Amino acid sequence: MCGIVGYIGFRRADKVAVSALKRLEYRGYDSWGVAVKSNDEIKVYKRVGAIGDVSQFELCEGTISIGHTRWATHGKPSDVNAHPHTDCNGKIAVVHNGIISNFQKLRESLEREGHVFKSETDTEVIPHLIEKFIDSGLDFENAVKETLKHLKGSYAFVALSSTEDKLVACKYKSPLILGIGDNEYFVASDVPAILEYTNRVVYLHDGDTVVLTRDSYEIYKDGKKVNREVEIVPWSVEQAEKGGFEHFMLKEIHETPKVIEDTLLEYVSDEIELDVGFTAGISDVIFVACGTSYHASLIGKYLIEKLDEIPVRVEYASEFNYHNAPLSRSLVIGITQSGETADTLEALRKAQKFGARTLAITNVLGSSVTRIADVILYTRAGPEICVAATKTFIAQLIVLYVIALRLSLLSRSEVNEILADLKLLPEKVRAILDMEDYIRKIAEELANYENMMYIGRGLGYPIALEGALKMKEISYIHAEGYPAGELKHGPFALLGKQTPVVACVLRDETYDTMLGNIKEVKARNSPVVALTDENDSEAEKFVDYVIKVPSTNVLLTPVTYSVVLQLLAYYAARSRGCEIDKPRHLAKSVTVE
Ligand code: M6R
Repeated sequence: MCGIVGYIGFRRADKVAVSALKRLEYRGYDSWGVAVKSNDEIKVYKRVGAIGDVSQFELCEGTISIGHTRWATHGKPSDVNAHPHTDCNGKIAVVHNGIISNFQKLRESLEREGHVFKSETDTEVIPHLIEKFIDSGLDFENAVKETLKHLKGSYAFVALSSTEDKLVACKYKSPLILGIGDNEYFVASDVPAILEYTNRVVYLHDGDTVVLTRDSYEIYKDGKKVNREVEIVPWSVEQAEKGGFEHFMLKEIHETPKVIEDTLLEYVSDEIELDVGFTAGISDVIFVACGTSYHASLIGKYLIEKLDEIPVRVEYASEFNYHNAPLSRSLVIGITQSGETADTLEALRKAQKFGARTLAITNVLGSSVTRIADVILYTRAGPEICVAATKTFIAQLIVLYVIALRLSLLSRSEVNEILADLKLLPEKVRAILDMEDYIRKIAEELANYENMMYIGRGLGYPIALEGALKMKEISYIHAEGYPAGELKHGPFALLGKQTPVVACVLRDETYDTMLGNIKEVKARNSPVVALTDENDSEAEKFVDYVIKVPSTNVLLTPVTYSVVLQLLAYYAARSRGCEIDKPRHLAKSVTVE
């Protein structure tokens, strides 16, 4: 996820690009860059770091520009890897958001033809392809259209030529809008970038190519000119940054279906494409992580033990510092969305000192953990702004499913069945998002309490832990996650009318016992909210509220149930008027031990 912009009109184009990029920084901020066409030359400025740190910026006179704020996916954050990228002669410049999945092959073939690459990015193949087709006799616009025929993956990009007063922008599976001003046009990843200048917008479709000149625009699809409706955006700039959502947390929960698709795309095509050489000769797995990533690890343990029969243990990273035994046949997996959590980094260093092989699962390319662990697997969740982890947690689970299935002792057809269910998860999550209003009403009831319990068994237990963490973190209601069987060993003393219990009921071997536990809780007068499978008609008979979650393979319920629990926490916190995106006393990345 990156932010891109293109401008053609009458204003100082460098300044338009910078102000637009500052509004797109929520999409990524590890580096940025701008290119301006000035007197048949392209001037490029690009730097590692956040554009928000720039107070004054002037590149050169010129009224056509492109710009980019980056969230690195291919190639670490650096000046060279920052966009725009250019062809060999600096006559074509391109900014891109998305992933060109066949870039390696394209690059090798362009290099054989004499093209010299400067960066490690997938994007750089685009200006070189455009250059190649211009050299073969096409004009700029047609060279871009020809380039599209060779790209696989996802993209929204804008191309600028030094010789033409024109921008060409293309969209496929990454967002791109067209902004229409008076004698000026914009393209951008999102509406906030351009709202300062115009609220007239065309939402481009996949496969659209838009050609912008100073006094007109044309949209093409499948070689034909098409008309698209111009819409008026009713938002303020602030509202628009959150895509119309009240908080980043809600926006990020709504991004979950796309995050699942993107993370699966990284590791699964027809079958799982993951080199598991890192597991050769290991005797056991140890997860080290904190907070939500710790809960993802508990789910990882369940999956790896069940599907692969490899012994697994999970340690709080902060406690692993006191570990004192050799680990020469262990694989230690650190999960950290930020890649910067001090305790997790230290735990991985410690594991290496004791001879372990290390693997990190992270969402941030170039983060500190990527310089420590032996092997890195990325989640593809895009930047997460809200302190509470939501979409990144789900992306971590997806990578854990991929690992567990890849190492699985199941037959090929059994694995394929689960893979098919994984691919259906975005649809299931969309169905949960459709139930938002119902979940909100229950959350608004829960918002009146000061103490809560979350219970589950088996795979339901880490789901309960994560649900409770989310609730306490943003609503400040004291919420504890417990194995359902443990309640009677002490916590029962806390039950009663004033302590609601959220029960995660799974349709597996834990089902009957779990229903028994809920009855015990009801006998102690606690209000109960049960999450259960949509086909279950038993639980609802004796609980106060039931949330029927779309059916899926029970192994995948951590994804569906967690989205419900995230919404429950969100709406409870909202009802209590809490500062949801920045809860008190917390930080997005905890860089001290
Ligand atoms: O970046 P990490 O995944 O290492 O962060 C670990 C925890 O600090 C984090 O998950 C924290 O618990 C979240 N705020 C929970 O929503």
